[in-house]
Amino acid sequence: MKGKFFIETYGCQMNVHDSEYMATLLEKAGYIETKDVKKADIIIVNTCAVRQKSEEKVYSFLGRLKSLKKKKPDLIIGVGGCVAQKEGEKILKKMPFVDLVFGTHQLYRILEFIEYIKENKKQICFIEFNQIEPPYDLIPFPRDGYGRAYITIIQGCNNFCTYCIVPYVRGRIISRKSEKILQEAKTLVEQGVKEIILLGQNVNAYGQDRPDEISFPELLHSLAKIPGLKRLRFITSHPKDLSLELIKTFGEIDILCEQIHLPVQAGSDRILKKMGRKYTRSDYLKKIEALRKICPNIAITTDIIVGFPGETEDDFKDTLSLLKEVEFDAIFAFKYSDRPPAKAVLFPDKIDEKIKAERLKTVLEIQAPITEAKNKEKEGKVVEVLLDNYSKKDPNQLSGRTRCYRVVNVEAEPKLLGHLVEVKIERALAHSLRGKVVKIID
Ligand code: SAH
Ligand code: SF4
Ligand code: F3S
Repeated sequence: MKGKFFIETYGCQMNVHDSEYMATLLEKAGYIETKDVKKADIIIVNTCAVRQKSEEKVYSFLGRLKSLKKKKPDLIIGVGGCVAQKEGEKILKKMPFVDLVFGTHQLYRILEFIEYIKENKKQICFIEFNQIEPPYDLIPFPRDGYGRAYITIIQGCNNFCTYCIVPYVRGRIISRKSEKILQEAKTLVEQGVKEIILLGQNVNAYGQDRPDEISFPELLHSLAKIPGLKRLRFITSHPKDLSLELIKTFGEIDILCEQIHLPVQAGSDRILKKMGRKYTRSDYLKKIEALRKICPNIAITTDIIVGFPGETEDDFKDTLSLLKEVEFDAIFAFKYSDRPPAKAVLFPDKIDEKIKAERLKTVLEIQAPITEAKNKEKEGKVVEVLLDNYSKKDPNQLSGRTRCYRVVNVEAEPKLLGHLVEVKIERALAHSLRGKVVKIID
């Protein structure tokens, strides 16, 4: 055994998956994962920079590592991900106990970096963008749930929404070869994976940078042919890239789950324009209508930003009316946060923090009964659930997801982890369902 490693992950599923990738590389090289940060010889912090708060959380975690390093001078501390990409060397200066800073295009070199630090005892920083398909020659071992695996099919983003830092920290889009994606999916299914979630910051832009490649809908159809694959999903979709051909796949592909996360951000055309989202409220509503026509019970979730610079009371009311009109299954709402070098930092008429907080509260209050009513509709129904983990609240119970991606908690033996079961829903709570296993499917 070479030593123990600990990974702390912040941010989106792409980061969760990048951590799986690094963990797999480290394990293959002879390191062992520990869940106890104090026992680690290597600590990797995979960071998120999407909002100011996300970045603050990272620094507060890093701050706590200082005393560990004092006690254990050979401890290697590495900072990767989006804050690392954004801040680079500044992290090494600000936090001299950090040994390594590596960017979002460099994570596959983690072993090389660790070896170098062990030999040279020097701080290093690697944050170049490669803008080539990363040499993903290893299939990360899925560790974020049983029976389910992520596959990154496209990285980066070309959209430059005016509030967003992602294009600056992840680079331009790079789609992976479909052949490699299909091979990875087949191998995962052979290992017992039943559900695959395709990942990308803007997943439905797949192929836009690769005219030689098959389209995203074609990729979904090819994946659906893999024997043994029971469920397929993709996140996150941009409304402007949601083509009719893609919408139709929800009616054509059985294993494609009835669920889509489609961030709308705001309900006012004026604000959508300032955000650079490249669709109008009416474009968005038409897509929702088309989705529901083709797949009547599709679950639709969204992201909302309140308090974007210049957002008036009337603009804000447009967001509220959109929430009432669409009736999303669930939403994620955020207060606008300045993220230099994103363009909106320079926009006039910044909204007062107090007003942002009030608007956030109002949005959540409007949505709560809608989510509750949608959850209640599930009571008494028998639904398919993939039992993917121990329940967060009670480790004696198992937890899983319906095809519409709702969390369901059940009493069940751990041997059912990674299995598909039928569950009779007994109770709907605010953010999850409770039920009883009535049949084991697979
Ligand atoms: N690629 C996805 C989302 C990436 S970030 C998309 O295009 O929808 C996830 C969510 O964080 C966004 O949907 C947005 O609602 C929120 N977000 C991004 N930047 C933000 C900022 N500066 N302030 C507040 N929320 C932000
Ligand atoms: Fe950010 Fe917009 Fe790209 Fe999403 S589409 S990652 S919000 S720039
Ligand atoms: Fe955060 Fe980077 Fe994902 S900023 S949301 S971890 S792409």
